[in-house]
Amino acid sequence: MIRTVFRGVGGFVPDNIVTNQDLTELMDTSDEWIIARTGIKQRHWINEEMGSSDLAVEAVGAAVENAGIELLDIDCIVFATLSPDHTFPGSGCFLQEKIGLAGIPALDVRNQCSGFIYGLSVADAWIRTGQYKCVLLVGAEVHSTGINITTEGRDVACIFGDGAGAVILTPSQDSQRGVLSTHLHADGKYARSLWIEAPGSRFLPLRISKDMIDQGRHFPKMKGRHVFTHAVKRMPEVILQGLEANGLGVDDVDLFIPHQANQLITEAVAQILGFDTKRVYSNIARYGNTTAASIPLCLRDAQEDGRLKTGDLVVLASFGAGFTWASAVVRW
Ligand code: COA
Repeated sequence: MIRTVFRGVGGFVPDNIVTNQDLTELMDTSDEWIIARTGIKQRHWINEEMGSSDLAVEAVGAAVENAGIELLDIDCIVFATLSPDHTFPGSGCFLQEKIGLAGIPALDVRNQCSGFIYGLSVADAWIRTGQYKCVLLVGAEVHSTGINITTEGRDVACIFGDGAGAVILTPSQDSQRGVLSTHLHADGKYARSLWIEAPGSRFLPLRISKDMIDQGRHFPKMKGRHVFTHAVKRMPEVILQGLEANGLGVDDVDLFIPHQANQLITEAVAQILGFDTKRVYSNIARYGNTTAASIPLCLRDAQEDGRLKTGDLVVLASFGAGFTWASAVVRW
């Protein structure tokens, strides 16, 4: 039986660190409020013109080196982002040109915080059917140029950071290792609970107008408490669904890597499932919420910290806009 294994991981964040204290110069907030409500101490924001594909280039270089492969071995790109360089084409095409892999397919995945696991599910299916043998899966975001960095937008602005993570996925004949399962969900009833309304193709006569910009409809809007309530319900559900599908339980898990949405969400999910803190990975304090990049950035950091060992059972889980939620059970 063919399984998909993580052959290499890499990540990149821009140099420019924005602390909570820095945000107090831009909006009415405080270091204490942000740490208490989110666990975030700082985030990285670009300070020169860079798109999500530019951040991805750096992460890809690190992942290729970590995997011990040549760039030319990659035969497919899957790029998860909610902040593409341009409206179209997808960032996967821009990345492909920048890393010089003309001809191979480049798929963009638009599933926000669940984008990495949705992308993993697609890549895993392609690898198991033999369609591709070396998939580059990227999650990359530039949030900082899209958020309202005034008091009006402070609930969202304090959360999001820029960054990129990349993994190299290859087949293995060892049926005990690799991606054991992925489970994906969505509920579009809540699409407007966390979204950017404009520009939008449904608006006449143009996708965006000066009035819309004046009303701030091009900024992300979030019903924070609503997102929180659903996240702490759906993430435990989808984790248990993944474990049960493999005949495993919470006690079997060596490391739980949640999407880094909010430290309070991570702690609530861990408590509901009975994960002690030693088995839960968190780096949100340093990067904030980097959406599709958050799980691969965790994988990069966890590997560097020596917390990912061959044979470990790792559970990835996410919740975000859509709403979408997902889990992956992986034997590292
Ligand atoms: N600094 C200071 N005060 C802030 C603030 C900030 N950065 N952001 C919001 N507030 C204020 C609000 O304006 C509100 O003030 P009011 O009572 O005068 O109206 C007050 O804090 C409470 O707001 P509320 O939204 O109820 O706070 P909260 O405890 O729910 O925390 C979030 C807000 C956004 C941190 C929290 O809801 C959250 O993290 N939700 C999940 C969001 C998430 O994970 N999003 C990513 C999707 S994966």
